[in-house]
Amino acid sequence: MVSETTRNLLHKLTVVKRHVIKCLIKATGKGHIARNTNEYTAIGKDPAVDEVGLKKSDLDTPVLWVDLDKLEDNIISLGSFFHAAGVQWRPHTKGVKIPAIAHKAIRAGAIGVTCAKLGEAEVMVASGITDILVANQVVGPQKVTRLVNLCRQADVKIAVDSDATLAVMSQAAIQKGVEIGILVELNTGMNRAGVEPGGPAVELSRKVHATPGLAYRGLMAWEGHACVTDETDWKEDEIKRSVGLLADTAEACRAEGLPVDIVSGGGSGTYKVTSQLEGITEIQAGGAVFNDVSYSSWGVETNPSLYVRVTVTSRPSPTRMITDAGWKTLPGWIGEPVPVGLSGVESISMSAEHGTVTFSEPNTDVRIGDVFDFMVSYTDQTLFLHDTLYGIRDGIVEVVWTITARGKLR
Ligand SMILES: Cc1ncc(COP(=O)(O)O)c(C=O)c1O
Repeated sequence: MVSETTRNLLHKLTVVKRHVIKCLIKATGKGHIARNTNEYTAIGKDPAVDEVGLKKSDLDTPVLWVDLDKLEDNIISLGSFFHAAGVQWRPHTKGVKIPAIAHKAIRAGAIGVTCAKLGEAEVMVASGITDILVANQVVGPQKVTRLVNLCRQADVKIAVDSDATLAVMSQAAIQKGVEIGILVELNTGMNRAGVEPGGPAVELSRKVHATPGLAYRGLMAWEGHACVTDETDWKEDEIKRSVGLLADTAEACRAEGLPVDIVSGGGSGTYKVTSQLEGITEIQAGGAVFNDVSYSSWGVETNPSLYVRVTVTSRPSPTRMITDAGWKTLPGWIGEPVPVGLSGVESISMSAEHGTVTFSEPNTDVRIGDVFDFMVSYTDQTLFLHDTLYGIRDGIVEVVWTITARGKLR
């Protein structure tokens, strides 16, 4: 039995509790959010459904968008270029990250995709892509487990540059009843990962080929150190030298009876030269499907198609304008983003969430609330910062892609 005194005390406590909750709701404004169903649904709304059909001019900023006509033209012209060069195309998706775009490339002739990380490869395989190269080492027990699982769903190849991981991968593959495709990675001048060309690469290839559970498929290298301005003789010579090392090593492996089907290399900054060289079977160029300020400076000839739209949020002086896109949105770590239709720009700098444009002469035309498109400086350093990419055709949102391989760092 609860006594009268206890009951009174409990009642008083309940009244006090209600009062405290009311005060808290008033102070934080949370009660409004909690009770307003419209605001709740606004949080969970699906932009892919709600924003398709909007005019580009009606999108809130900052917003990452792609010109679909240009993107599709780029993909078709790259596919035709590689077809004419007699090499296969395996676009790198490290800076593309959207399976729907990879599928457009496959429809234009690509054989599959290159990925930088296993997590990226899982996203691509989940979208139905079955021919995958993870152009990276896969190290550690969790990753090896994921790798053999992925091999059940797709033809997956990874890069190997040491015999340290062979036994673990072999055991996992045998246990799972799969074969892991292996390309031996060479260092042909980039000085990143990779075994040395010639003897050391042939030796490692022999070991891979002799390891049960591993399917030796060939070699890869990335001559990324030659991604410099297109017009230098050094660039062409260096690409030829690097790819020559790769091709010669492939021949040396074949001379030993090793089954080299794949000799993979090249990227957006080098494909025009690399694709013409003897011995290479496939090109990994990916970012060229978008093109940007940096790729253009490296000789990529597709149409720049990727932009960030920003709003002018402040005009602190006639020679300075501030936008709502800093380096968390529109970085300039490699190259500088270029504003479209804005003249007299002396410099552009970024803090985290503010973009600062300095004019060489006072500019009184630009007002707070004006909106500008910036061509991105480097796709690979911009796209991964965003949740969504808006595909625009004729000024209208046609598709809103979730950037599904974003954050797939493992
Ligand atoms: C292994 C590898 N291949 C190719 C590329 C080129 O990729 P993209 O064509 O997207 O610049 C890179 C880029 O860094 C790379 O790491």
